[in-house]
Amino acid sequence: MRPFALLLLLWGASSACAQTDVGPGDVASGEVPTGGVTSSEVAPEAVATGLDEPVVIPPAPSHFMGRRIATTMHWQGAPWLLRETREEEEHAARLLAALAVEPGMTICDLGSGNGFHTLPLARLVGEGGAVWAVDIQQPMLDMLAERVEAEGLDNVVLRLGNEIDPMLPARAVDLILLVDVYHEMSHPEPMLARMHAALAPGGRIALVEFRGEDPDVPIKPLHKMTRAQAIREYEAHGFRAAGSFDELPWQHLLFFVRDDEPASGPGTPR
Ligand SMILES: C[S@@+](CC[C@H](N)C(=O)[O-])C[C@H]1O[C@@H](n2cnc3c(N)ncnc32)[C@H](O)[C@@H]1O
Repeated sequence: MRPFALLLLLWGASSACAQTDVGPGDVASGEVPTGGVTSSEVAPEAVATGLDEPVVIPPAPSHFMGRRIATTMHWQGAPWLLRETREEEEHAARLLAALAVEPGMTICDLGSGNGFHTLPLARLVGEGGAVWAVDIQQPMLDMLAERVEAEGLDNVVLRLGNEIDPMLPARAVDLILLVDVYHEMSHPEPMLARMHAALAPGGRIALVEFRGEDPDVPIKPLHKMTRAQAIREYEAHGFRAAGSFDELPWQHLLFFVRDDEPASGPGTPR
C-alpha cells in the first residue's frame, strides 16, 4: 500500500474510532429512535414495527460471549466511509461479486452508514428488487438519502432502527449484509434474534469484519473480529456457518444461514 493511503486510512480509522466516545446510547441524543424513513414505495406498510410505541432499550452489556463490544462509529466520521482509497483497500467490487446478488432480491444493508454498499446493491437488485438500508443514526440515513436521490434510485428503503431492532419485515429478506458493524452492535443478542426472524427461506447473512487474527490489518483490535469468535456467536443464536470468501485483503466474509434451513440449498453461497 502507498504510504499516503496508509496514513489516510490510519487517520480515518482513528478519527472514526476516536469519536466512538459517543456511544450508541448517545447517538440519538438520549432519545430512543422510533421512526423510519422510506425513500420509495417498496412495501413499507408490510412492516409491523409498532413505530408509535415507546421502545425501551435495556442497558448495554460491555461484553458478549467473551468479546468486548466496540462503541459505535459516530456519524461525523462518515466521510471516512466514502474515502477514495476504500475500493483499493477493501476490494469492495470483489466483495459484491462474492455475494452473488441477483436481480429481484430483497437485501438489507444493516448498519448502512452513508451507504457505501447500498447504492451498488440497489443497482444490482434492479427495479424488481429492494435494498433496506438500516442504521441507528439518522444523520447517516440523511446523507444516504441525498446519495440515493442523486442517483435517481427508487428501490432503497431507508429505515431508522434502534439498538435492539432493525425494523425488518419477518421472513422477507434474502440477504442481510453487515459490513464493519456487527462488532459495534451494543445489543448483539436481540439483533441476532431479529436478523434470524427477518431471513426469508433460503436467506443468508453475509458478515464482513476486519480480521482479528491478522496483526497486519491496520485497524484497532477492538474493531476487528476473529473468524472463530464470529462463528461461535452466530452458531449459539440459531445460525449455521455456510461458507466464506477468503479473497478480501483485510476482511473476513462469512456466510450464515438459519440452522433450521436444509444443510445445502439456496442459502449456501454459490
Ligand atoms: C463503521 S460504520 C459502517 C457503515 C457501512 N456498513 C459501511 O461499510 O460503510 C457502522 C454503522 O453501523 C451503525 N450501527 C451500529 N449499531 C447498529 C445497529 N444495532 N443497527 C443498525 N445500525 C447500527 C452505525 O450507526 C454506523 O453507521
